[in-house]
Amino acid sequence: MDTLRIDGRVVLVTGAAAGIGHEIARACAAEGAVVHLADVADTVHEAAAGMTGLRAAVAHVCDVTDPEAVRRLVDDVIAASGRLDVAYLNAGVNGVPSPLQPGGAIDDLPFADWRRVLDVNLDGLFHCLQRCAGVMKAQRSGSIVVTASTAGLRAEPRVSYPYVVSKAAVLGLVRQAALELARFGVRVNALAPGPVVTGIGGPGPRPAAAVAAWEDSVPMRRWGTPADLTGLALLLASDASGWMTGGTYVADGGATALTQVLSDTLPGPDEG
Ligand SMILES: NC(=O)c1ccc[n+]([C@@H]2O[C@H](COP(=O)([O-])OP(=O)(O)OC[C@H]3O[C@@H](n4cnc5c(N)ncnc54)[C@H](O)[C@@H]3O)[C@@H](O)[C@H]2O)c1
Repeated sequence: MDTLRIDGRVVLVTGAAAGIGHEIARACAAEGAVVHLADVADTVHEAAAGMTGLRAAVAHVCDVTDPEAVRRLVDDVIAASGRLDVAYLNAGVNGVPSPLQPGGAIDDLPFADWRRVLDVNLDGLFHCLQRCAGVMKAQRSGSIVVTASTAGLRAEPRVSYPYVVSKAAVLGLVRQAALELARFGVRVNALAPGPVVTGIGGPGPRPAAAVAAWEDSVPMRRWGTPADLTGLALLLASDASGWMTGGTYVADGGATALTQVLSDTLPGPDEG
């Protein structure tokens, strides 16, 4: 299907050194796009180097919480490639205890933890969206895809307050920007993954019982992988989704179709 093709398109991916962003960048490069990978981690250089041979892949070290650095990033993309067709705004963090863990309950949570996550997941997204939207508005075309989360679609006691709140807020930002930018031919959508094996989401050092409980909360009975998201990511980038804007598209093995998970996860009144 020709409308699914993105070869020759100029794509920017933030948070591209690892995990979901890295896999989306790799998939875009494999489809023949010119890919710009941005990340706060300088391993982004190795990530981009691993993609050469497919097409141009350019690395940029950029902290999305720094508006000036984001301005330079987008200027550098335009200087190198002349335009920006697709922006995957994907950089994100968590690393804060959930309400079920010490230091994560609402009356315990340090404000610094709250701010650190919102700085990246919401303010960082704002800086990137602002710059990318400006370029795409002037160009009268473009697709912006934001990595949200199923944790932003419902309360999730196994995930920290600032993460859940940042990902819920992201959806409002996506809808509001989609509304404003529609008349300029710029689309803005959210991709909302369920639990995916990465630095943020993976089984990692969690106890085996917690890993299994996450698996049980996914009707397809497995964690997702970054590769599970690339089909949807490519669709949202391409002309095949040309009439889709302001939407939130879930890839979660059926997890949000299941509501019983909350009562199974929360401790009862006598359990502290
Ligand atoms: N893994 C999951 O279960 C899951 C589920 C839903 C949504 N998400 C979202 O997917 C996105 C990607 O996360 P991931 O799971 O691939 O985790 P990850 O930790 O593997 O990748 C996140 C990347 O973002 C980069 N990053 C962090 N702070 C940054 C900053 N200030 N500036 C630039 N880059 C920064 C990191 O260096 C890292 O390379 C995030 O927005 C995350 O919230 C993840």
